[in-house]
Amino acid sequence: MSKKITKICCIGAGYVGGPTMAVIAQKCPDVKVTVVDINEKRIAAWNDEDLGKLPVYEPGLDKVVEEARGRNLFFSTEVDKAIDEAEMIFISVNTPTKTYGKGKGMAADLKFIELCARQIARVAKDDKIVVEKSTLPVRTAQALKSILHNTGSSPAGKEGGVQFDILSNPEFLAEGTAVEDLHAPDRVLIGGDNPEAIQALVDVYAHWVPAANILTTNVWSSELSKLTANAFLAQRVSSINALSELCEKTGADVNEVARAIGTDSRIGPKFLKASVGFGGSCFQKDILNLVYIAKSYGLHEVADYWEQVILMNDHQKRRFADNIVTTLYNTVSGKKIAFLGWAFKKDTNDTRESAAIHVADYLLNEQAEIVVYDPKVTEEQIYADLDYLNTRDEKENRKLVTVVNDPYKATDEAHAIAVLTEWDEFRAYDWQRIYDLMLKPSFVFDGRAVLDREKLKNFGFEIYIIGVGSCG
Ligand code: UDX
Ligand code: ADP
Repeated sequence: MSKKITKICCIGAGYVGGPTMAVIAQKCPDVKVTVVDINEKRIAAWNDEDLGKLPVYEPGLDKVVEEARGRNLFFSTEVDKAIDEAEMIFISVNTPTKTYGKGKGMAADLKFIELCARQIARVAKDDKIVVEKSTLPVRTAQALKSILHNTGSSPAGKEGGVQFDILSNPEFLAEGTAVEDLHAPDRVLIGGDNPEAIQALVDVYAHWVPAANILTTNVWSSELSKLTANAFLAQRVSSINALSELCEKTGADVNEVARAIGTDSRIGPKFLKASVGFGGSCFQKDILNLVYIAKSYGLHEVADYWEQVILMNDHQKRRFADNIVTTLYNTVSGKKIAFLGWAFKKDTNDTRESAAIHVADYLLNEQAEIVVYDPKVTEEQIYADLDYLNTRDEKENRKLVTVVNDPYKATDEAHAIAVLTEWDEFRAYDWQRIYDLMLKPSFVFDGRAVLDREKLKNFGFEIYIIGVGSCG
């Protein structure tokens, strides 16, 4: 018989922890779910009466939070209290790529995970099931186990010691469709070595996920599956992006090629959309992680193979920016370039690793002036993203980059438009009006292949579409 879980705690109220716990609480009204974070501002936003102010924008999330919050879903900064109460603790803190020391630029920085483990070990007075939710390098569970078992007031293994079971339960939700993905996951993956602990977590998901969609494996397989899934998905994007350059040279249309190959059921239609480059907090980080692990085992061919996915992605971002400069008569100095979109994909306010940041950086190095419009990303975030790159000082970023809340303002007197995110609303704009507002010739660089080439051409635009090429 597995233990019945009545109280869950989740450490980390970010893009993964917030939506995942909201859906668990919604679907399991008999379980008290407390999401804790050290970031007071974030917790206050999760508790805001105004559901429009939730810190994570996800379609449908407001409804889920509205249903469960205050009933069995709570957001709090009292980390110790929530750990103490819970039978099951999810760790959902950030694991960015290391920016210092050994493994810099490649390995995942596990300091936040380690701090959580030490805190759990210090606070726990009774047995806990600890669930890794953050994306982690393979064998992190081992490190977690070691910390949990050797620290704390009553270390496991000693008489009267607390028992910790570690499970790996990677998250496969994609931002922008997180609620849908959580409501109807292709699969839930649970890795562990204690069948009772595994069953306790299976029982939580079984509230709404069919048994056939809940897979159980050993811990290492589960950890590696997460990295592998993201590496395969990113590889598909880099593969189609590699072909997009060839299409532009040969007159083929990458979207037609994608449709043609996607109908082969062995290939399938998803993740074949050519773009200015993939972004998001996971793809690059997870592949770098995979590369780092492979290298650390001396598997250099394996490492090089996967690294190429990242190199192709970097090339695509640079190529897109380069094309803007070349087309605008080899100089963008002092020219106004309107950015439509800053988020790394549509339907999210997340900008981590967004291609827009790198394209902007490249154009700013060429002394362009950029005006950004994104329906969901704040001005504060856009400046923070540019400042984080550390390419130029904060004053310079604010001088060269303006953020507006109206697309027509962004395009007014612009030399060119760059489409960096595939927001649906871009298609519905009054493009005749935009053409009239812009300087002539009016260039559009569509890095997401979302615009209607023929329609824009008829208005008089010179248009370049990624994977299709230029016309006008
Ligand atoms: C990804 C995984 O899909 C998810 O399972 C995992 O849990 C987290 O990482 P996410 O990063 O939220 O999710 O978004 P995803 O939809 O995978 O897109 C990643 C990037 O690839 C985006 O920048 C997107 O625009 C780009 N992309 C995706 C393409 O350029 N072309 C495509 O065909 C698909
Ligand atoms: P993800 O996309 O993985 O959810 P985020 O950065 O959106 O990543 O969220 C991670 C959250 O974890 C942040 O809000 C951060 O404040 C929180 N966090 C990090 N370390 C701790 C900790 N030791 N205790 C509580 N919260 C933490």
